[in-house]
Amino acid sequence: MHAASTILDVQHATKKFGKDTVVNDVSFQIKEGEIYGLIGPNGAGKTTVIKTIVGHLRLSSGQIRISSYDISKEFADAIDFVGAIVEYPMHYQYMTGYQNLKLTANMYPEVTKERLEEVIDLVGLKSRIHDLVRKYSLGMRQRLALAQSIMNYPQLLILDEPMNGLDPLGMRDLRNMLKSLAANGMSILISSHILGEMDQLCDRIGILSHGYLITERDMAEFHHNKQPIYEVRVNDAEEALTLLRNEYGGEVSAQEVVAGTLEVQSAVITPSQINRTLVMGGIDVQEIHEKKQSLEELYLQLTGGAEIE
Ligand SMILES: Nc1ncnc2c1ncn2[C@@H]1O[C@H](COP(=O)(O)OP(=O)(O)OP(=O)(O)O)[C@@H](O)[C@H]1O
Ligand SMILES: [Mg+2]
Repeated sequence: MHAASTILDVQHATKKFGKDTVVNDVSFQIKEGEIYGLIGPNGAGKTTVIKTIVGHLRLSSGQIRISSYDISKEFADAIDFVGAIVEYPMHYQYMTGYQNLKLTANMYPEVTKERLEEVIDLVGLKSRIHDLVRKYSLGMRQRLALAQSIMNYPQLLILDEPMNGLDPLGMRDLRNMLKSLAANGMSILISSHILGEMDQLCDRIGILSHGYLITERDMAEFHHNKQPIYEVRVNDAEEALTLLRNEYGGEVSAQEVVAGTLEVQSAVITPSQINRTLVMGGIDVQEIHEKKQSLEELYLQLTGGAEIE
Protein backbone atom coordinates (compact mmCIF):
# COMPACT_ATOMS: atom_id res chain seq x y z
CA MET A 1 0.00 0.00 0.00
CA HIS A 2 1.27 3.46 -0.83
CA ALA A 3 0.83 6.29 1.66
CA ALA A 4 -2.13 8.47 0.70
CA SER A 5 -0.96 11.66 -0.92
CA THR A 6 -1.93 15.13 0.27
CA ILE A 7 -4.57 16.73 -1.95
CA LEU A 8 -5.06 19.96 0.00
CA ASP A 9 -2.30 21.70 1.90
CA VAL A 10 -3.16 24.90 3.75
CA GLN A 11 -0.12 26.59 5.30
CA HIS A 12 -0.30 29.58 7.65
CA ALA A 13 -3.41 30.90 5.96
CA THR A 14 -4.29 34.38 7.19
CA LYS A 15 -7.12 36.57 5.96
CA LYS A 16 -7.65 40.15 7.02
CA PHE A 17 -10.57 42.42 6.23
CA GLY A 18 -9.22 45.90 6.93
CA LYS A 19 -7.63 45.53 10.32
CA ASP A 20 -9.76 42.56 11.36
CA THR A 21 -7.94 39.24 11.13
CA VAL A 22 -10.72 36.70 10.58
CA VAL A 23 -8.50 33.74 9.68
CA ASN A 24 -5.31 33.59 11.68
CA ASP A 25 -2.35 31.39 10.76
CA VAL A 26 -4.46 28.34 9.93
CA SER A 27 -2.65 25.20 8.71
CA PHE A 28 -4.10 21.80 7.86
CA GLN A 29 -3.84 19.08 5.25
CA ILE A 30 -6.31 16.70 3.68
CA LYS A 31 -5.23 13.40 2.22
CA GLU A 32 -6.63 11.43 -0.65
CA GLY A 33 -9.90 9.76 0.36
CA GLU A 34 -10.15 11.67 3.61
CA ILE A 35 -13.23 13.50 4.90
CA TYR A 36 -12.18 16.58 6.89
CA GLY A 37 -14.75 18.58 8.84
CA LEU A 38 -14.51 22.22 9.87
CA ILE A 39 -16.65 23.17 12.82
CA GLY A 40 -16.84 26.32 14.92
CA PRO A 41 -19.20 29.06 16.09
CA ASN A 42 -20.89 31.55 13.74
CA GLY A 43 -18.27 33.97 12.49
CA ALA A 44 -15.34 31.68 13.38
CA GLY A 45 -14.01 31.85 9.82
CA LYS A 46 -15.11 28.55 8.23
CA THR A 47 -16.64 30.06 5.11
CA THR A 48 -13.73 32.47 4.77
CA VAL A 49 -11.23 29.59 4.84
CA ILE A 50 -13.31 27.79 2.21
CA LYS A 51 -13.59 30.90 0.03
CA THR A 52 -9.83 31.35 0.02
CA ILE A 53 -9.40 27.73 -1.10
CA VAL A 54 -11.86 28.01 -3.99
CA GLY A 55 -10.48 31.40 -5.02
CA HIS A 56 -13.43 33.63 -4.09
CA LEU A 57 -11.12 35.47 -1.72
CA ARG A 58 -7.40 36.09 -1.76
CA LEU A 59 -5.25 35.21 1.26
CA SER A 60 -3.54 38.09 3.08
CA SER A 61 -0.64 35.74 3.77
CA GLY A 62 0.14 32.04 3.76
CA GLN A 63 -0.08 29.43 1.06
CA ILE A 64 -2.64 26.96 -0.28
CA ARG A 65 -1.76 24.04 -2.51
CA ILE A 66 -4.24 21.78 -4.26
CA SER A 67 -2.50 18.63 -5.39
CA SER A 68 0.88 20.15 -6.27
CA TYR A 69 -0.43 23.50 -7.49
CA ASP A 70 -0.08 26.75 -5.58
CA ILE A 71 -3.44 28.49 -5.99
CA SER A 72 -1.89 31.96 -6.01
CA LYS A 73 0.29 31.08 -8.99
CA GLU A 74 -1.38 28.18 -10.81
CA PHE A 75 -5.03 28.76 -10.03
CA ALA A 76 -6.49 27.27 -13.21
CA ASP A 77 -4.57 24.02 -12.76
CA ALA A 78 -5.41 23.86 -9.07
CA ILE A 79 -9.14 24.52 -9.40
CA ASP A 80 -9.47 21.76 -11.98
CA PHE A 81 -9.33 19.32 -9.07
CA VAL A 82 -12.16 20.98 -7.17
CA GLY A 83 -15.94 20.75 -6.96
CA ALA A 84 -17.59 23.07 -4.44
CA ILE A 85 -20.71 24.44 -2.85
CA VAL A 86 -20.06 27.68 -0.99
CA GLU A 87 -22.72 29.33 1.19
CA TYR A 88 -25.91 29.85 -0.82
CA PRO A 89 -25.73 28.03 -4.14
CA MET A 90 -27.13 30.12 -6.99
CA HIS A 91 -29.40 28.69 -9.65
CA TYR A 92 -31.45 30.06 -12.50
CA GLN A 93 -34.90 30.10 -10.92
CA TYR A 94 -36.87 30.10 -14.19
CA MET A 95 -35.08 27.09 -15.56
CA THR A 96 -35.62 23.51 -14.57
CA GLY A 97 -33.18 21.62 -12.41
CA TYR A 98 -32.10 19.72 -15.48
CA GLN A 99 -31.44 22.90 -17.50
CA ASN A 100 -29.32 24.22 -14.65
CA LEU A 101 -27.33 20.99 -14.62
CA LYS A 102 -26.85 21.17 -18.39
CA LEU A 103 -25.42 24.66 -18.07
CA THR A 104 -22.87 23.44 -15.55
CA ALA A 105 -22.13 20.39 -17.67
CA ASN A 106 -21.30 22.63 -20.63
CA MET A 107 -18.20 23.75 -18.74
CA TYR A 108 -16.86 20.21 -18.64
CA PRO A 109 -16.30 18.43 -21.94
CA GLU A 110 -15.95 15.07 -20.15
CA VAL A 111 -19.44 15.21 -18.61
CA THR A 112 -21.79 13.15 -20.77
CA LYS A 113 -25.58 12.86 -20.77
CA GLU A 114 -25.20 9.50 -19.00
CA ARG A 115 -23.11 11.13 -16.30
CA LEU A 116 -25.86 13.73 -15.79
CA GLU A 117 -28.44 10.97 -15.30
CA GLU A 118 -26.06 9.27 -12.90
CA VAL A 119 -25.61 12.32 -10.64
CA ILE A 120 -29.35 13.07 -10.71
CA ASP A 121 -29.92 9.56 -9.42
CA LEU A 122 -27.16 9.85 -6.89
CA VAL A 123 -28.62 12.97 -5.27
CA GLY A 124 -32.16 11.62 -5.43
CA LEU A 125 -33.73 14.31 -7.61
CA LYS A 126 -34.99 12.15 -10.43
CA SER A 127 -38.71 12.73 -9.93
CA ARG A 128 -38.40 16.54 -9.76
CA ILE A 129 -35.49 17.29 -12.07
CA HIS A 130 -37.73 18.74 -14.83
CA ASP A 131 -39.51 21.15 -12.47
CA LEU A 132 -38.60 24.82 -12.31
CA VAL A 133 -36.00 25.50 -9.62
CA ARG A 134 -38.26 28.34 -8.42
CA LYS A 135 -40.58 25.61 -7.15
CA TYR A 136 -37.87 23.64 -5.33
CA SER A 137 -37.68 23.35 -1.57
CA LEU A 138 -34.45 24.26 0.23
CA GLY A 139 -33.41 20.64 0.42
CA MET A 140 -34.00 20.11 -3.31
CA ARG A 141 -31.83 23.14 -4.09
CA GLN A 142 -29.08 21.64 -1.94
CA ARG A 143 -29.36 18.36 -3.81
CA LEU A 144 -29.16 20.18 -7.13
CA ALA A 145 -26.06 22.07 -5.99
CA LEU A 146 -24.52 18.82 -4.88
CA ALA A 147 -25.16 17.27 -8.28
CA GLN A 148 -23.40 20.23 -9.90
CA SER A 149 -20.43 20.00 -7.56
CA ILE A 150 -19.69 16.32 -8.19
CA MET A 151 -20.54 15.92 -11.88
CA ASN A 152 -16.97 16.37 -13.13
CA TYR A 153 -15.49 13.79 -10.72
CA PRO A 154 -13.55 16.31 -8.60
CA GLN A 155 -10.67 14.95 -6.53
CA LEU A 156 -11.42 17.50 -3.84
CA LEU A 157 -15.02 18.23 -2.96
CA ILE A 158 -15.63 21.31 -0.81
CA LEU A 159 -19.00 21.71 0.88
CA ASP A 160 -19.95 24.66 3.06
CA GLU A 161 -22.92 23.61 5.19
CA PRO A 162 -24.40 21.17 2.68
CA MET A 163 -26.84 19.73 5.23
CA ASN A 164 -28.78 22.99 5.49
CA GLY A 165 -32.38 22.23 4.77
CA LEU A 166 -31.99 18.49 4.32
CA ASP A 167 -34.54 16.28 6.03
CA PRO A 168 -33.26 13.37 8.17
CA LEU A 169 -33.46 10.94 5.27
CA GLY A 170 -31.71 13.44 2.98
CA MET A 171 -28.99 13.81 5.58
CA ARG A 172 -28.46 10.10 5.82
CA ASP A 173 -28.39 9.82 2.02
CA LEU A 174 -25.83 12.63 1.85
CA ARG A 175 -23.67 10.96 4.49
CA ASN A 176 -23.74 7.61 2.69
CA MET A 177 -23.03 9.25 -0.62
CA LEU A 178 -20.06 11.24 0.69
CA LYS A 179 -18.66 8.16 2.40
CA SER A 180 -18.86 6.16 -0.78
CA LEU A 181 -17.24 8.98 -2.80
CA ALA A 182 -14.42 9.12 -0.26
CA ALA A 183 -14.03 5.35 -0.32
CA ASN A 184 -13.38 5.73 -4.04
CA GLY A 185 -10.60 8.21 -3.36
CA MET A 186 -12.32 11.59 -3.35
CA SER A 187 -11.19 13.98 -0.61
CA ILE A 188 -13.85 16.07 1.06
CA LEU A 189 -13.71 19.31 3.05
CA ILE A 190 -17.00 20.01 4.75
CA SER A 191 -18.30 22.56 7.24
CA SER A 192 -21.44 22.14 9.28
CA HIS A 193 -23.04 22.95 12.61
CA ILE A 194 -24.73 19.57 12.77
CA LEU A 195 -22.20 17.95 15.07
CA GLY A 196 -23.90 14.57 15.32
CA GLU A 197 -23.66 14.21 11.54
CA MET A 198 -20.07 15.45 11.46
CA ASP A 199 -19.18 12.95 14.16
CA GLN A 200 -20.46 10.10 12.02
CA LEU A 201 -19.14 11.40 8.72
CA CYS A 202 -15.67 12.83 9.20
CA ASP A 203 -12.30 11.11 9.50
CA ARG A 204 -10.81 14.22 11.01
CA ILE A 205 -12.24 17.38 12.50
CA GLY A 206 -10.72 20.84 12.92
CA ILE A 207 -12.31 23.29 15.33
CA LEU A 208 -12.09 26.95 14.37
CA SER A 209 -12.65 29.67 16.93
CA HIS A 210 -12.14 33.40 16.30
CA GLY A 211 -10.09 32.61 13.20
CA TYR A 212 -7.74 30.15 14.92
CA LEU A 213 -7.68 26.42 14.30
CA ILE A 214 -7.69 25.54 17.98
CA THR A 215 -7.57 21.77 17.68
CA GLU A 216 -7.74 18.83 15.29
CA ARG A 217 -9.04 15.39 16.14
CA ASP A 218 -8.73 12.08 14.39
CA MET A 219 -12.26 10.77 14.92
CA ALA A 220 -11.31 7.09 15.08
CA GLU A 221 -8.82 7.88 17.86
CA PHE A 222 -11.28 10.21 19.52
CA HIS A 223 -13.83 7.43 19.81
CA HIS A 224 -11.31 4.79 20.72
CA ASN A 225 -9.37 6.64 23.42
CA LYS A 226 -12.27 7.93 25.35
CA GLN A 227 -12.49 6.65 28.86
CA PRO A 228 -16.04 5.76 29.66
CA ILE A 229 -17.80 8.11 32.05
CA TYR A 230 -20.53 6.64 34.26
CA GLU A 231 -23.28 8.74 35.68
CA VAL A 232 -24.26 7.33 39.04
CA ARG A 233 -27.32 8.52 40.95
CA VAL A 234 -27.22 7.81 44.69
CA ASN A 235 -28.92 8.83 47.92
CA ASP A 236 -25.68 10.00 49.60
CA ALA A 237 -23.16 11.45 47.20
CA GLU A 238 -20.56 12.41 49.77
CA GLU A 239 -20.44 8.96 51.33
CA ALA A 240 -20.41 7.35 47.86
CA LEU A 241 -17.38 9.42 46.86
CA THR A 242 -15.52 8.41 50.01
CA LEU A 243 -16.28 4.73 49.41
CA LEU A 244 -15.10 4.85 45.79
CA ARG A 245 -11.91 6.71 46.65
CA ASN A 246 -11.08 4.32 49.47
CA GLU A 247 -11.69 1.28 47.32
CA TYR A 248 -10.06 2.34 44.06
CA GLY A 249 -7.78 5.26 44.91
CA GLY A 250 -6.14 6.70 41.82
CA GLU A 251 -7.86 4.27 39.48
CA VAL A 252 -11.01 6.32 39.34
CA SER A 253 -11.79 9.96 39.18
CA ALA A 254 -15.16 10.82 40.61
CA GLN A 255 -17.04 14.00 41.39
CA GLU A 256 -20.50 15.16 42.23
CA VAL A 257 -21.86 17.05 39.22
CA VAL A 258 -25.40 17.72 40.35
CA ALA A 259 -26.85 17.04 43.79
CA GLY A 260 -27.04 13.26 44.15
CA THR A 261 -25.33 12.50 40.83
CA LEU A 262 -21.71 11.44 40.47
CA GLU A 263 -19.62 11.25 37.36
CA VAL A 264 -17.19 8.38 37.66
CA GLN A 265 -14.44 7.97 35.10
CA SER A 266 -12.15 5.00 34.96
CA ALA A 267 -10.42 2.89 32.37
CA VAL A 268 -10.36 -0.18 34.61
CA ILE A 269 -13.44 -0.57 36.76
CA THR A 270 -16.80 -1.64 35.43
CA PRO A 271 -20.26 -0.34 36.30
CA SER A 272 -21.00 -3.56 38.19
CA GLN A 273 -17.94 -2.99 40.37
CA ILE A 274 -19.06 0.54 41.10
CA ASN A 275 -22.52 -0.75 41.94
CA ARG A 276 -21.23 -3.50 44.22
CA THR A 277 -18.86 -1.22 46.11
CA LEU A 278 -21.57 1.33 46.75
CA VAL A 279 -24.33 -1.11 47.68
CA MET A 280 -22.04 -3.05 50.03
CA GLY A 281 -21.17 0.25 51.66
CA GLY A 282 -24.84 0.89 52.36
CA ILE A 283 -25.55 3.36 49.58
CA ASP A 284 -28.77 3.24 47.52
CA VAL A 285 -27.82 3.22 43.83
CA GLN A 286 -30.75 4.50 41.82
CA GLU A 287 -29.18 4.48 38.39
CA ILE A 288 -25.88 3.90 36.58
CA HIS A 289 -25.43 4.62 32.93
CA GLU A 290 -22.58 5.31 30.58
CA LYS A 291 -22.34 8.83 29.27
CA LYS A 292 -20.88 9.08 25.78
CA GLN A 293 -18.35 11.83 25.30
CA SER A 294 -19.55 13.36 22.11
CA LEU A 295 -18.09 15.73 19.61
CA GLU A 296 -20.65 18.22 20.88
CA GLU A 297 -19.20 18.08 24.38
CA LEU A 298 -15.67 18.53 23.11
CA TYR A 299 -16.83 21.44 20.98
CA LEU A 300 -18.63 23.16 23.85
CA GLN A 301 -15.67 22.62 26.15
CA LEU A 302 -13.20 24.12 23.71
CA THR A 303 -15.26 26.97 22.30
CA GLY A 304 -16.80 27.66 25.69
CA GLY A 305 -20.12 28.89 24.34
CA ALA A 306 -18.19 31.82 22.87
CA GLU A 307 -20.10 34.98 22.01
CA ILE A 308 -20.16 36.14 18.41
CA GLU A 309 -17.88 39.15 18.02
N1 LIG B 1 -16.37 40.38 2.98
C1 LIG B 1 -16.18 40.56 4.28
N2 LIG B 1 -15.81 41.75 4.79
C2 LIG B 1 -15.60 41.93 6.10
N3 LIG B 1 -15.75 40.96 7.03
C3 LIG B 1 -16.12 39.75 6.60
C4 LIG B 1 -16.36 39.48 5.21
N4 LIG B 1 -16.71 38.17 5.08
C5 LIG B 1 -16.69 37.66 6.33
N5 LIG B 1 -16.34 38.60 7.24
C6 LIG B 1 -16.18 38.38 8.69
O1 LIG B 1 -15.29 37.32 8.87
C7 LIG B 1 -15.66 36.56 10.01
C8 LIG B 1 -15.76 35.09 9.63
O2 LIG B 1 -16.90 34.91 8.79
P1 LIG B 1 -17.24 33.51 8.14
O3 LIG B 1 -18.37 33.72 7.21
O4 LIG B 1 -15.99 32.91 7.63
O5 LIG B 1 -17.70 32.69 9.42
P2 LIG B 1 -18.28 31.20 9.51
O6 LIG B 1 -17.38 30.46 10.44
O7 LIG B 1 -18.50 30.66 8.17
O8 LIG B 1 -19.67 31.45 10.26
P3 LIG B 1 -21.11 30.75 10.06
O9 LIG B 1 -21.11 29.57 10.98
O10 LIG B 1 -22.05 31.80 10.56
O11 LIG B 1 -21.30 30.43 8.63
C9 LIG B 1 -16.95 37.17 10.53
O12 LIG B 1 -16.64 38.02 11.61
C10 LIG B 1 -17.46 37.95 9.36
O13 LIG B 1 -18.22 39.06 9.77
MG1 LIG C 1 -20.18 30.07 7.10
